Amino acid sequence: MKGKTYSQNLREFLDLVKDIDGFPKAENEEILSLSDPPTYTACPNPFIKEFIELHGKPYNFNDDKYLKAPFTRDIREGKHHPIYLSHTYHTKVPHQAVQKYIEYYTNPGDIVFDGFCGTGMVGIAAALSNRKAILSEISPFATFVANNFLNSLSPNDFTEVFEEILQEVRSECEWVYKTKHTSKSINTRTKKNAEVIDSFGKLGSINYIVWNDVYQCPVCNNEICLGETSDEKKPGEYNEIFTCPHCYSVVNESNAKKVRVEKYDAILKENIETVLDKPILISYSVGKTNFWKKPDEYDFQLIEEIESLKIPYWVPIVRMPNGRSTSQALKSHNITHIHQYFTNRNLYVVSKFLDTCKRKNFKIWFIISSLLQKASKLMALNKDYVGRVTKGVLYISSTRQEINLFYFINKNITSFKQALETLNFDKTIIISTQSTTDLSNISSNSIDYIFTDPPFGGNIMYSELNFIWEAFLRVFTNVEHEAIENKVQGKSLQDYASLMVRCFLEMYRILKPNRWITIEFHNSKASVWNSIQKAITSVGFKISQVSVLDKKVGSFKQITTNNSVKNDLIISAFKPKKEYTGQSIKSPGKGLEIEVLRDQLKRLPIQQNPGRTDKMLFSKMLAHYVENGFKIRYNSSNFYKILDENFVKFDGYWFLEEQVQEYLKWKR
Ligand SMILES: C[S@@+](CC[C@H](N)C(=O)[O-])C[C@H]1O[C@@H](n2cnc3c(N)ncnc32)[C@H](O)[C@@H]1O
Repeated sequence: MKGKTYSQNLREFLDLVKDIDGFPKAENEEILSLSDPPTYTACPNPFIKEFIELHGKPYNFNDDKYLKAPFTRDIREGKHHPIYLSHTYHTKVPHQAVQKYIEYYTNPGDIVFDGFCGTGMVGIAAALSNRKAILSEISPFATFVANNFLNSLSPNDFTEVFEEILQEVRSECEWVYKTKHTSKSINTRTKKNAEVIDSFGKLGSINYIVWNDVYQCPVCNNEICLGETSDEKKPGEYNEIFTCPHCYSVVNESNAKKVRVEKYDAILKENIETVLDKPILISYSVGKTNFWKKPDEYDFQLIEEIESLKIPYWVPIVRMPNGRSTSQALKSHNITHIHQYFTNRNLYVVSKFLDTCKRKNFKIWFIISSLLQKASKLMALNKDYVGRVTKGVLYISSTRQEINLFYFINKNITSFKQALETLNFDKTIIISTQSTTDLSNISSNSIDYIFTDPPFGGNIMYSELNFIWEAFLRVFTNVEHEAIENKVQGKSLQDYASLMVRCFLEMYRILKPNRWITIEFHNSKASVWNSIQKAITSVGFKISQVSVLDKKVGSFKQITTNNSVKNDLIISAFKPKKEYTGQSIKSPGKGLEIEVLRDQLKRLPIQQNPGRTDKMLFSKMLAHYVENGFKIRYNSSNFYKILDENFVKFDGYWFLEEQVQEYLKWKR
């Protein structure tokens, strides 16, 4: 392979990695064009072993002096960092929180791994701490985002190419967001009518348009568009319980049916049934002043023109997969295909952006993709006049905000440029798109620390939610090994649990002995929590500490109660050295208990920690017997005798002799 570029190598390696779990669904050419080898591949990355040989430190069993107690300090969440804000993804982990863990457990130059990396926050944390990282994840969209964070353009290059692309798209498409400035419009600050000196031909730039579904009055059968019936001063404002303007009956929105109509879908080239909707409010600017107005003749004509516009660029013509989240829009608005999530206006602008990014620099698509959901019909308008996409679902509200992409890009670009400034340094990172159930392209005992944030049961249907984003990349998640609970995919809680066992087994294999894994686990049902806990321990990890993320104050606090599953959990576990559980394992009564207890006390923080109490140490011992299939020999009273004879008790907590001084210091 010498003399060949990494891209040529990747083409030849595709066949070798095709059988690795999670190889995405796509044409080879699409995978190759999305990849940026060796750092990023939109398929299982064949260059990881080379990366480890180059940057890793081989594990030496006899020389291993690594010893750490679990990390227990309180940590602020930091969800307002520009990196966190510049691209949306489900359940992102703030990188600053992860950084604290990485810096505690590892040394500069060590390799950190995340097998459910999402948008790569663990990679960012590692890079900012001068560590190396291997990131892996099943969704090609998530790894695309991770790659753009970690291998972004320099801030100057980004600004230059971004401005060029924006300029091209703007000059072709800006007309679709124009509206007539009229004296009927309301100044949003003064709430007075606009003063239009010379209104003839004066156009404003639309910020967004509010659309409402049309209902049928259950009493008189006439059509009602709720926002349309509102007062001139506050266009678009309405209540769910309202008076029908035709028969004056009091109607509740939830009892009224939506009006369905037939419409020609120019992309599918066939008539489809859809919900009738109407624009009811336009928010626009003239210079720096904002106005709103009810749509007028000019706006209706523009909408008609745009609706009949034949989009001259590629758009995905892809049917939405059957699923739990995807069925929502199907039921409410008969949405069957990706393009139907967009108005023709925004689909046109998005497709023009895609085309221009492909020709000029595809890294800029990252910033457009961060706005895709907002540019779609998923963008609801809330009562506070703020548009929002509901997280974790594909829900289409009956009141929607159709955004002007240019206006929203301007809002996003500032935080993205700030993020780029933070990320503008050399990073040693490699990213792979594959399932963690099979990490055969990563060597055993090669990783110094794992921080990971796995999927949690049936809470979030990642592949369904990522489908819209992935359709524009033309590379899709291979759902066969996606670790979720999902009836449509035929995956029960049991299936989720066994996929998680396989993932943890692989993470256990690649982690060096004696090293730590930190698992963030989100708020979920106790049954899901139990299966994940079982998965972690069944592969051999020893859980040493469970903390809880207190969302209110943004800190990780130690668990003291049983109802902790209501919050996000931080599980600290380690991979014991072979001598501890392997060949030389002792049977109960032959010094085994002392060894297990020593090891446990060594790893606990030297503080008043619940893990140091009689009860907790006894249950740890019992758990160890059970995990190893030993018969339980001790009852609590003769077990406490072992404690008394071998360890030191202070204030109700047990310590190793050599820990006493440090504990007394802590107490002061
Ligand atoms: C909670 S999210 C991780 C979010 C991430 N921490 C971030 O900051 O963006 C869990 C991720 O696991 C991924 N996933 C699900 N099944 C997987 C599997 N078998 N192998 C690898 N990744 C998987 C999902 O696509 C999702 O992105």
